[in-house]
Amino acid sequence: MFHAQWNHWSRAKCFQHPRFGTSTDGPKLKAEDKVTTAAATEICPLENYLVLPDQTMDARIAAARAKLGSTAVILGHHYQRDEVIRFADFTGDSYKLAKISSQSKADHIIFCGVHFMAESADVLGNDFQNVILPDLNAGCSMADMAEIGQVEDCWEQLVKLGLTDEAGEGITPITYMNSTAAIKAFCGERGGVVCTSSNAPGAFDWGFAKSPKLLFLPDQHLGRNTAFAMGVPMSDMVVWDPFLIMGGNTPDRLRKAKLILWKGHCSVHQRFLPEHVDKVRARHPGIQVVVHPECRWEVCQKADAIGSTERLIQVIEKAPRGTKFAVGTEIHLVNRLGKQFADQDKMVITLDDSGCLCTTMFRISPQHLCWALENLVDGNVVNRIKVEKDVKHWARVALNRMLDIKTGGHVPAPAAMVAAHGTLQD
Ligand code: 13P
Ligand code: SF4
Repeated sequence: MFHAQWNHWSRAKCFQHPRFGTSTDGPKLKAEDKVTTAAATEICPLENYLVLPDQTMDARIAAARAKLGSTAVILGHHYQRDEVIRFADFTGDSYKLAKISSQSKADHIIFCGVHFMAESADVLGNDFQNVILPDLNAGCSMADMAEIGQVEDCWEQLVKLGLTDEAGEGITPITYMNSTAAIKAFCGERGGVVCTSSNAPGAFDWGFAKSPKLLFLPDQHLGRNTAFAMGVPMSDMVVWDPFLIMGGNTPDRLRKAKLILWKGHCSVHQRFLPEHVDKVRARHPGIQVVVHPECRWEVCQKADAIGSTERLIQVIEKAPRGTKFAVGTEIHLVNRLGKQFADQDKMVITLDDSGCLCTTMFRISPQHLCWALENLVDGNVVNRIKVEKDVKHWARVALNRMLDIKTGGHVPAPAAMVAAHGTLQD
């Protein structure tokens, strides 16, 4: 009974806003983004949803989700807004979501996150699965800071200097999850690996066991924070600027360096400054400062704990009642934690008063999610993320190597902070 009603309502819902009348104009999608299944009907245009208020989406999302049942799984990264993440079947940091997607048997994986996460899910998934990113504009400015052509060019220069051979005998390339599938494939093909902020120390150990040098891209901060905590001195690290010859280094500096850091960063996390830590400690004596390792080294040095989004949540969860936290990461997660732990008397505030918003994560709106789900119900797969076959092979090699490296090897808090404030780590 419900199914019959659904189909009737489903047809009508596309045309319910007067601005669109009964127009059957197609959505503005690229051809490769439109995939239809056997029972497909006409694609319902996104524009029809974007004019509708957020609160009208809840019931529709819930109904479409229920209709899809076990054929679909919705994954939500911790930075997603409340109106979206409340519909996620699984939430997590990028490592956890990659692991869940690699084990999922669902036909449709709706990834409420950013492009590199959806690409990784496609690489790790099966051919019959569709990975859907509800808004194709949900990218990552850090991932955009390393283009495959620039990385190939860098490698060529390192080979010419005799620091490595083409296959990675000499330097192990390690890419942060926040990079394109092409860069993951580049690393896989040269004996390298992908890592996330929850297993970066393990990946660095793995790399140093293979070769005396690492090339880490694209986040200089995660690379620096990880290596420094492992005892690599700053003097053994150089930064590679892709816009300069030899990355702006002398051959001698490159020869001596143990770690070559790509000059990339997260524009959200880079906004947290060491003076924010001083200010919040002065205002709230005894407050615990916990930050994501994409923050600057100077900020991480002043923190009590450092970790991936999942790890930051665990630290707050495990803390005794009444603990106060200033968190250096994206504002939607921080605000959610503030509400979630209020009943345990835990205060959770942002480290920077202005609040750091990831605008690309924010692009996934309830309207986009509803549009993707209702089209799926109608047999239309919209915004499918499909990685090319030749890229997929080596990207999968690098991602599978990553999944074999255990998490929990998070960047430890600086010793001075642990001595002064005790440790929040288990
Ligand atoms: P996590 O893996 O910690 O969730 O980080 C992803 C990210 O993009 C942080 O900016
Ligand atoms: Fe990318 Fe930074 Fe947004 Fe994370 S917070 S997705 S690194 S732009």
